[in-house]
Amino acid sequence: MSANHDLQNMSGYFDPASEPADTSFGGSEEPVRVNPIPRVTVHSFCLTEETMRVAEAALEDRRMAKAHLKVDMGGIPAAISTFSQAPTPNLIIVETSGARENVLASLDQLAEYCDAGTKVIVIGDVNDVMLYRELIARGVSEYLITPVSVFQLIGAIGQLYADPEAEPLGRTIAFYGVKGGCGASTIAHNGAWSLAHNLQSEVVVADMDLPFGTAGLDFNQDPLQGIFEAVSSPERLDETYLDRILSKCNEHLSLLAAPATLERTYDHSEQTFEQVVDTMRASVPMIVLDIPHTWNAWVRNTLLNADEIVLVAEPDLANLRNAKNMVDLLKQMRPNDRPPHLVMNKVNVPKRPEIKPEEFAKALGLRVQAAIPFEPQLFGTAANNGQMIAELDGKSAVSRLFDDLAQSVSGKVQPSRHARSAIGGLFSKLTRRAG
Ligand SMILES: Nc1ncnc2c1ncn2[C@@H]1O[C@H](COP(=O)(O)OP(=O)(O)O)[C@@H](O)[C@H]1O
Ligand SMILES: [Mg+2]
Repeated sequence: MSANHDLQNMSGYFDPASEPADTSFGGSEEPVRVNPIPRVTVHSFCLTEETMRVAEAALEDRRMAKAHLKVDMGGIPAAISTFSQAPTPNLIIVETSGARENVLASLDQLAEYCDAGTKVIVIGDVNDVMLYRELIARGVSEYLITPVSVFQLIGAIGQLYADPEAEPLGRTIAFYGVKGGCGASTIAHNGAWSLAHNLQSEVVVADMDLPFGTAGLDFNQDPLQGIFEAVSSPERLDETYLDRILSKCNEHLSLLAAPATLERTYDHSEQTFEQVVDTMRASVPMIVLDIPHTWNAWVRNTLLNADEIVLVAEPDLANLRNAKNMVDLLKQMRPNDRPPHLVMNKVNVPKRPEIKPEEFAKALGLRVQAAIPFEPQLFGTAANNGQMIAELDGKSAVSRLFDDLAQSVSGKVQPSRHARSAIGGLFSKLTRRAG
């Protein structure tokens, strides 16, 4: 971090180009992708209601589930009076106000009571590079300027405990059908293929439907045990072992296939898939999780922890009821994350009365990410051939819908937006020069 920058712009925890969300979810910011924050104790002393609300929201966030965070008011004076009588936690967060001298003097006083190993984050209302330098010189870990967002706060805490090498590389994208057979796996596989092909990024598809998964069929791979081996011998699971159980579909796409056999039952616990997902996140940039339509503790846990969620639905009433329940639950479990991406599938089945995709989305407070038509000939042939739609007919409109979906879940800025902002930048330079 260079102190020459404007401090307000230094936090950089969000992607300014991400889509503005139109619902009451966490809004437009790219949620921070930090490893879950470890079991540290954090005590924060706020001055303003606004910062306190942010701290409380951070406390509730899924990434903070293991940490213990206490939120109080009173700023540095309250911290001093607390810690003059009690040991300090792993991390103290103090909000300050006003001029450099006062802030530094009161911090020095607080430092007298800090146990070795306690880290300090300061939140302040002055954008002052000198203050920032002096704070860092005193061993303060980070200085954040109000108004602080939940993401900045969690990101700053995450940074303190993240081993730079352990930073999760992988983005997990969970595909979930709100009703059985709505096409979630088909969308997941085609989306994954487009991700790998268009972004030239390594993608792994994990088929989490152990008894019935179709990823092996769809990608024309021999029956394999991939994911079963991963979950049944967690003690052996590391990146080398993962490489051995993946089957390669093409240059950038690999599959962790489901056995799709019934000689045993698959009774997963809530944490069954956690380790395999974490191992993939450490070594693969994009992980597509093809989750079956069931409702168990492990499904809930997998959705809770995914970076992005794609909900697939057909345009009828039962799908709408289920989607509404799911969206409400996700909002409650992941208040600081972006809303799920909604894919309407099998739209326009002949003679079927349907809810219009836009109306369906509106009832959920979402927008339609893609409305994929019912095309039994196209999808049926692709499935029978073990091909993706883009391989069968790269020019079809459906294939472009998968390209857009891949772009959107990848978190990468659209190339067209890059171009637009470059032109915008040039334009503002010209007008400035002219003025
Ligand atoms: N848009 C579509 N048009 C026609 N058939 C489709 C479409 N999407 C999926 N299908 C077909 O629907 C069936 C169920 O799809 P699948 O992806 O297995 O659903 P899920 O994973 O939700 O259970 C498959 O035969 C698939 O080929
Ligand atoms: Mg499926």
